[in-house]
Amino acid sequence: MTDPSPDSALENALRTHTDYGVEKLDEADLAGDPFAQFTAWLAEAAEREVYEPNAMVLGTIDPDGAPSIRTVLLRGVDDRGFAFYTDYTSRKGRALLANPAVSAVFPWYTLHRQVIVFGEAHPVEADDSDAYFAARPRGAQVAAWSSDQSQAIASRDALEQKVRDADARFADAPEIPRPERWGGFRIVPRRVEFWQGRTSRLHDRLVFTRQGDGAWTVERLQP
Ligand SMILES: Cc1cc2nc3c(=O)[nH]c(=O)nc-3n(C[C@H](O)[C@H](O)[C@H](O)COP(=O)(O)O)c2cc1C
Repeated sequence: MTDPSPDSALENALRTHTDYGVEKLDEADLAGDPFAQFTAWLAEAAEREVYEPNAMVLGTIDPDGAPSIRTVLLRGVDDRGFAFYTDYTSRKGRALLANPAVSAVFPWYTLHRQVIVFGEAHPVEADDSDAYFAARPRGAQVAAWSSDQSQAIASRDALEQKVRDADARFADAPEIPRPERWGGFRIVPRRVEFWQGRTSRLHDRLVFTRQGDGAWTVERLQP
């Protein structure tokens, strides 16, 4: 058998259609709040070997009103929200500091699941960013000092020079401090959707919405 031509591989990629089935998500199975439900599904994604199960695609709004997305890694989740770390002066950092509105999706395709978070992202406490930065490998700490994330640079060589400069600067330092422009954001959700693929596109969609008193209500959406 010969390999499929690139054209037919492309054709297949555009036509692929899996009928999701086996699993379901019932109201009766749902945890009492979105954090408990999320952590249960995240643990399952890790156990079932989803690649980078903590990766989420994060959408923000640029100052000109245009949407912008990218992948970041979830580094903490508890009743306060979903935390990730980045450069506050990056495109996403500037966007969020000007407009905290945010949405993120955890795309667990191999499980036929996605979780979509809607809310606001605010910087985490400086102590939390310090603790997380201190626990990073030295190379990652030097990289944080070497990269003005999202800014243009003349060449790869110029970037590597910035790394050498930062490395030299901290050569004798017992520990590398956190750059002030680097730290965490916590997404405080007001709405979290749990999506489970079902057969014939009749998927389960259960959405938690936070009420004024902090309680969560659940509703089912049509697929
Ligand atoms: C799997 C994966 C994980 C990533 N994790 C992070 C992260 O945790 N923080 C981060 O700042 N960038 C992360 N990135 C890089 C971002 O996607 C993005 O390129 C960078 O943050 C700049 O985005 P911006 O210009 O929109 O601000 C990750 C990329 C990938 C593919």
